[in-house]
Amino acid sequence: MSQGETVIENLRFAFLGGGNMAEALIKGLLTGLAVPPRHVVATDVIRERCGYLHETYGICTSNDNPQAVRDSEVIFLAVKPQTVPTLLEAIAPDVNRGKLIVSIAAGIPLSTLQCALADDSRIVRVMPNTPALVLAGAAGISPSPTATPADIALVERIFNVVGRATVVSDSLMDTVTGLSGSGPAFVFALIEGLSDGGVLMGLDRPTATMLAAQTVLGAAKMVLETGKHPGELKDMVTSPAGTTIAGMQALEDGGLRGLMMAAVRRATERSQELGRGLK
Ligand SMILES: NC(=O)c1ccc[n+]([C@@H]2O[C@H](COP(=O)([O-])OP(=O)(O)OC[C@H]3O[C@@H](n4cnc5c(N)ncnc54)[C@H](OP(=O)(O)O)[C@@H]3O)[C@@H](O)[C@H]2O)c1
Repeated sequence: MSQGETVIENLRFAFLGGGNMAEALIKGLLTGLAVPPRHVVATDVIRERCGYLHETYGICTSNDNPQAVRDSEVIFLAVKPQTVPTLLEAIAPDVNRGKLIVSIAAGIPLSTLQCALADDSRIVRVMPNTPALVLAGAAGISPSPTATPADIALVERIFNVVGRATVVSDSLMDTVTGLSGSGPAFVFALIEGLSDGGVLMGLDRPTATMLAAQTVLGAAKMVLETGKHPGELKDMVTSPAGTTIAGMQALEDGGLRGLMMAAVRRATERSQELGRGLK
């Protein structure tokens, strides 16, 4: 542990909203960072959800958000974005410099969070994605100027347990939303298309989908683990007059890379629109 790094065992964590994303993070804290279950509280308006989280993970549960804030040092805002303003109003009196607020609510900028809480509040905004549920998430982290380097390091550690995380400026969080937030859906469509191709050429559906998904997983691992440019990795499997270059020509005819760029651009613009309150 480097000097100045937070001792995680001494911290108490609150999840305001005990939904899917909160559950993924709770799992990560308990199994990946050895946080004792008694140091974690989750609140939810659904009583059965509280019962499930308590029985499955042994954590404390409650429906009292201000009390959960008072009892904790690290507080995750994990309710739906439309619920965030009411939640902030309820907890604001109990948020002080001793608390780190981590918002995972999509589309809520740091400025909105800062306006609702005390000026010196330590806030970090995170944009995670659904593969965090299988510990393969990708998250953008954006700290407020009042967050400390130890706060940023702590949030990075937590999100690196449920995938990979990187720090970006708040002005680029819509782009993170358009790329890694919406990206799983783009890749699901890609996998479906590859599987359809396999079925078209004679494979049964389960075999085609397994081969397609594993191919995407393997290619992604090669990009991350070799650090090589994707174009270089593509060239390594593209032999002269071979099968892969023939398939690549079909992709280029259809404008695959331009389409991917347009998808990220359109999703980013939509995130910007939603942030400005346009429906
Ligand atoms: N899931 C993802 O992949 C993903 C990705 C990026 C960001 N996020 C963000 O993560 C946040 C949570 O998403 P999620 O998918 O985990 O949502 P979710 O499963 O709907 O979880 C939110 C939970 O909080 C409960 N809740 C509502 N109001 C509350 C209150 N005042 N106090 C305590 N609990 C309350 C909800 O109950 P009700 O259902 O009755 O409202 C629900 O059980 C969202 O802001 C979302 O934008 C999620």
